[in-house]
Amino acid sequence: MGEERWAEVDRYVTELLLPDDAALDATLAASAAARLPAIQVSPPQGRLLELLARIRGTRRILEIGTLGGYSTIWLARALPPDGRLVTLEGNPHHAEVARANLARAGLERIVEVRVGPAAESLARLAAEGAEPFDLIFIDADKPAYPEYLEWALRLSRPGSVIVADNVVRNGAVADPRSADPSVRGVRRFHEMLAGEPRVSATVIQTVGSKGYDGFALAFVTRDP
Ligand code: SAH
Ligand code: DHB
Ligand code: MG
Repeated sequence: MGEERWAEVDRYVTELLLPDDAALDATLAASAAARLPAIQVSPPQGRLLELLARIRGTRRILEIGTLGGYSTIWLARALPPDGRLVTLEGNPHHAEVARANLARAGLERIVEVRVGPAAESLARLAAEGAEPFDLIFIDADKPAYPEYLEWALRLSRPGSVIVADNVVRNGAVADPRSADPSVRGVRRFHEMLAGEPRVSATVIQTVGSKGYDGFALAFVTRDP
């Protein structure tokens, strides 16, 4: 049992529970046509993001790492009409593709794509005195996850949920000697969660069409 079976089950679940969706299908097609890497969350993972946001009654979402806006669409659909999603993207081409995809999905009014290095955009958000976000999805460059967690805490409040993608890395996360900068960044991220009295956190391993990886989930219990 391996990758092929994992992908087969993802197809099964997707066909059963996640009917074809014009805006999401068009987003994947336009992203592929624009040669963006196909590294967006899988359909079942996208639904998980939507459900987390809905369960939480989320009104404000921050996403770090937009790509073509696929996960953005899943998250934004969980918002009420007066909700807001800010998504940060460093690659101007990705941001342009994402904006077109979000407009086609009818979400341009509630989603703002901010272009630039995420660390700079996060500092600017904090300097602007942005209201706290209810849900923060971390999914950009993995070596910088520790820095993104610090900003996520600063931009959250008790009751906020922080979700981070790609935190198992085919199991490499358990190797303390790994020299891979992404593994090292993710390990430091987990250590920060472990030492952080303001959050209750866990890591869930996943398999599927994107191989073997996982999500970190953190609930902010106390004021940052
Ligand atoms: N969340 C998306 C996938 C994001 S892929 C989805 O699931 O649909 C990661 C994205 O982060 C890429 O588009 C990449 O350009 C962007 N990125 C990488 N490093 C970044 C940085 N330092 N600042 C901002 N964006 C960055
Ligand atoms: C990569 C990034 C991701 O966010 C992901 O989910 C899968 C792969 C990457 O940079 O290769
Ligand atoms: Mg990811």
